[in-house]
Amino acid sequence: MDLNGKHVVVTGAAAGIGEALAERFHAEGARVVVADVQAEGAAVVAARLNERRPDSAIAVRADVSTEHGNKTLVETAEGRFGVIDLFFANAGVGVGSDPLRTSELEWQLAFDVNVHAHRWAAKYLLPGWLARGEGYFCSTASAAGLLSQIGSAPYSMTKHAAVAFAEWLSITYGGSGVKVSCLCPQGVNTALLRAGDDPAAGISSSVVRAAGRVLEPAEVAEVAVAIIRSETFLILPHDEVLTFMRNKTADYDRWLGGMRKLQARMLGGA
Ligand SMILES: NC(=O)c1ccc[n+]([C@@H]2O[C@H](COP(=O)([O-])OP(=O)(O)OC[C@H]3O[C@@H](n4cnc5c(N)ncnc54)[C@H](O)[C@@H]3O)[C@@H](O)[C@H]2O)c1
Repeated sequence: MDLNGKHVVVTGAAAGIGEALAERFHAEGARVVVADVQAEGAAVVAARLNERRPDSAIAVRADVSTEHGNKTLVETAEGRFGVIDLFFANAGVGVGSDPLRTSELEWQLAFDVNVHAHRWAAKYLLPGWLARGEGYFCSTASAAGLLSQIGSAPYSMTKHAAVAFAEWLSITYGGSGVKVSCLCPQGVNTALLRAGDDPAAGISSSVVRAAGRVLEPAEVAEVAVAIIRSETFLILPHDEVLTFMRNKTADYDRWLGGMRKLQARMLGGA
């Protein structure tokens, strides 16, 4: 997809990867809906984009952890810029750790934002896209959705589910003109990763930092634009993730053993 002139919605766009995606899509010539539960942050990003090109962006306060939040977001975006060409379900949370220490509220939030938000958005996007015979759904899962997230069961489970939903969408509607891509980064320098640096948060962030280079959000957005242009499925800003995936599928038990060793090393260092 050539993004020039397209109507793009990005959730979680007030900060981090979402902000960088919004910036990059806008630089390609897209009209951008900057959606986030943080209204002020979204307004700042949209104002910056409008300074560069008047009337090319709006901020929408949207809580995607509910069906209503997704429905209202789709309706608001369509009301302002018409048919949505690309919807990027990027908002995510890194709550929870070991199941023994994770509250039911944290489980619920992780599933609502990291998984259910994607299917709720799709529910309100697909009828229009299927009628038109085109539309593009992108989601931000994580390398944790292809591999695992040492230190966090909720993150591992919800990100696997996000990848599963994106795959399912592509299989089911790819033949009807709906394009799907799934962003699966490893470490990215955002508030989400930095929050995990607090020793009280466990070892998740230290594992991510040990696994490879931490990219800047703009580097991730650069790769996302290239993959969207090619309309292929996996957006892998870290090349090593493909190698790790291949290792996992080549010998599952060996891969599990390696992950246990990495966990022991991180716990020893903690
Ligand atoms: N940073 C990393 O290392 C990393 C790695 C892999 C995947 N990811 C994923 O990337 C995505 C973006 O995360 P980030 O790293 O930029 O973190 P971030 O915390 O900088 O940004 C997340 C944004 O999502 C918004 N958000 C959270 N809950 C929301 C809700 N209910 N409704 C609307 N917006 C909401 C936040 O307000 C924030 O602006 C997430 O899905 C995350 O899981 C991040």
